[in-house]
Amino acid sequence: MSAHDVQRPMSSHKAAGLKGEALVPGDKSVSHRSLILGAMAVGETRVTGLLEGEDVLGTAQAMRALGADITRSEDGMWSIHGVGIGGFREPDDVVDCGNAGTGVRLIMGAAATTPISVTFTGDASLRKRPMGRVSDPLALFGAEFNGRSGGRLPLTMTGASNPVPVRYVSPVPSAQVKSAVLLAGLNAPGETVLIEAEATRDHSERMLRGFGATVSTELTGEGHVITLTGQPELRPQTIAVPRDPSSAAFPVVAALLSEGSDVIVPGIGLNPTRAGLFQTLKDMGADLTYENMREEGGEPVADLHARFGPLKGIEVPPERAASMIDEYPILSVLAATAEGTTIMRGVKELRVKESDRIDAMARGLEACGVQIEEDEDTFIVHGRGADGVPGGATCATHLDHRIAMSFLCLGMASQKPVTIDDANAILTSFPIFEDLMTGLGAKFQRIPA
Ligand code: S3P
Repeated sequence: MSAHDVQRPMSSHKAAGLKGEALVPGDKSVSHRSLILGAMAVGETRVTGLLEGEDVLGTAQAMRALGADITRSEDGMWSIHGVGIGGFREPDDVVDCGNAGTGVRLIMGAAATTPISVTFTGDASLRKRPMGRVSDPLALFGAEFNGRSGGRLPLTMTGASNPVPVRYVSPVPSAQVKSAVLLAGLNAPGETVLIEAEATRDHSERMLRGFGATVSTELTGEGHVITLTGQPELRPQTIAVPRDPSSAAFPVVAALLSEGSDVIVPGIGLNPTRAGLFQTLKDMGADLTYENMREEGGEPVADLHARFGPLKGIEVPPERAASMIDEYPILSVLAATAEGTTIMRGVKELRVKESDRIDAMARGLEACGVQIEEDEDTFIVHGRGADGVPGGATCATHLDHRIAMSFLCLGMASQKPVTIDDANAILTSFPIFEDLMTGLGAKFQRIPA
């Protein structure tokens, strides 16, 4: 029995105003990529600020199973001795990626052009998620897949023995698909090309360049065309992982909706492919400022300063969706406490995340007395204004960390407490969430299951 077989319900009560500084953990996307690229370089990659949440620890474990030597020193520095491109060995056992869609999809890509067999599985959430979106392009390199219906996990992949480079037009706006293709292209001769209609987060491209690969990005009539030159020698790197804007979203929004709040969230990356939420909050009239703007590791970084104030509902531009795809659950919570209606269109990717996030938020918000409308690709929240959300419900979290954290934030501003059925999933991406938020003044209560 794993620790997660026991549910951990938790309730969130009205907070008197959050105050202080919130040091959120390292970026999940950059953390996964640091371990995977470190494992594909020859020599020692050193990483500080790695997110030590379950998703990323699962990727570290998978890289060890594939032959990399990974250790953590007492001061939190991670050292990865990589095996080089094409150097992965066949794991002795099933690779269990837990809850991590990014982990499993990127690792599949990284191993797809090495002639080994790997069987992947994950938790009940991950086993429901579509894997065809990565196995389809990876099959073009010559990899073979044998999974459950719909290509779902558990799935066995046999990597290509004679990989060929691929040109692939991604049918979905997904950095995971893009990254899987680029990582597979590392061990194919010639140029691998990935074309995406909308720009998704570009950490893989930036980090691949940092490790010494040649990657170009060009905007053409076809879309964003990313070209990788195969079979480079990846050089080990020293990486300082920036703090995660998707985790920063929780204390920032909690401050905006909880009366009397004044919170600083230092050192948050504002890479334009990730910062859509913060612009949206400003469009809603939020008292959110960027302070101490600087550049770190080639990325714009700022301290976010968020204070409570009146907010209005808005229509979120659909072309912004990719840059805030993980932030719609917490945005919908803020929308519930704003005056007026917030319309989110072009959001159907939310249906295939750790849970169907439109459905999960819609049902929980309704149970808390908020009126919503939805269709396959649209989510509309009718705001009830500050102090207008009744609350008083227990919301199902469906093994989804962002749903769990979002409803705990809703409880901080609703009339009656909001309870979640299970807080365990929060450990996948934000293991210090409970301590960090209660340290700012949130009132959470663990409830015996
Ligand atoms: C991620 C990409 C996004 C995001 C996920 C992390 C990544 O998924 O939802 O949390 O690190 O590449 P998609 O690329 O599938 O949209």
